[in-house]
Amino acid sequence: MSLVNGTEIFKAAREGHYAVGAFNTNNLEWTRAILGAAQETNTPILIQTSMGAAKYMGGYELCKNLVEQTIKSMNITVPVIMHLDHGNYEAAKECIEVGYNSVMFDGHDLPFEENLAKTKEIVALAHAKGISVEAEVGSIGGEEDGIVGAGELADVEEAKQLAAAGPDYLAVGIGNIHGVYPENWQGLSFDRLEELAAEIKIPLVLHGGSGIPKEQILKAIDMGIAKVNVNTEQQIAWSKAVKAYYAADKDEAEKGFDPRKVLAPGTKAIKDTVESRIEWFGTPAVK
Ligand code: 13P
Repeated sequence: MSLVNGTEIFKAAREGHYAVGAFNTNNLEWTRAILGAAQETNTPILIQTSMGAAKYMGGYELCKNLVEQTIKSMNITVPVIMHLDHGNYEAAKECIEVGYNSVMFDGHDLPFEENLAKTKEIVALAHAKGISVEAEVGSIGGEEDGIVGAGELADVEEAKQLAAAGPDYLAVGIGNIHGVYPENWQGLSFDRLEELAAEIKIPLVLHGGSGIPKEQILKAIDMGIAKVNVNTEQQIAWSKAVKAYYAADKDEAEKGFDPRKVLAPGTKAIKDTVESRIEWFGTPAVK
């Protein structure tokens, strides 16, 4: 198995009351760590690039080729979905063009009617090529790679209209935010999730998965969340491991300055974090 779209995988997750994790990549090591975690646990996985990460790495085509070639070289056999995270209209179109398997069109900052119209357009373009689409209703709070959302609860009527535009999964604002949660965070709004899940039958997506207590994540999954996005937790794990390497003066030891040695503990830390989240989400092993 290699690259696949996300439609059936997330539909099965919602029906089965489990989730499949969506993890952001930044470079070769992150890609290897995320794919390695999926293979080790024998579970499907979604690997995604934000617009900022794709720009950093050299463009969408390069990212798609990187993931594709890494799947080959690592002999990855589990299903992998290559996804655009928080794409604007142009980015979504470009990723459809270069052959991502799934794209998020994030029109939260547009007037609702325009978000709706552009979501419809992206759905038509993507579906013509067998590519899945994630849409977003209500903004996800916090900041990720320059995409800033104030954080609001998704409006149920808007969510219904957006779901009717044909996306395969829908990101919902339920009090979640990107990045580290503030001390005074109120937690997820299960009341709003319940209202949304009652009206919307396509898989729901929880962004800002880092730092949400496990019980809240499990409850949200049970209620209809089928895709959980996690990014900051891997960044923190990576950063701590690299810091520990230098703090222990390992770079001073026998060729410890070799970048392959410097990057190894950070790569392992990302892989361990991803594996632990796969376990939380209850993603079943591939048969
Ligand atoms: P965190 O970085 O807060 O885990 O959010 C990830 C995310 O939602 C990516 O879209």
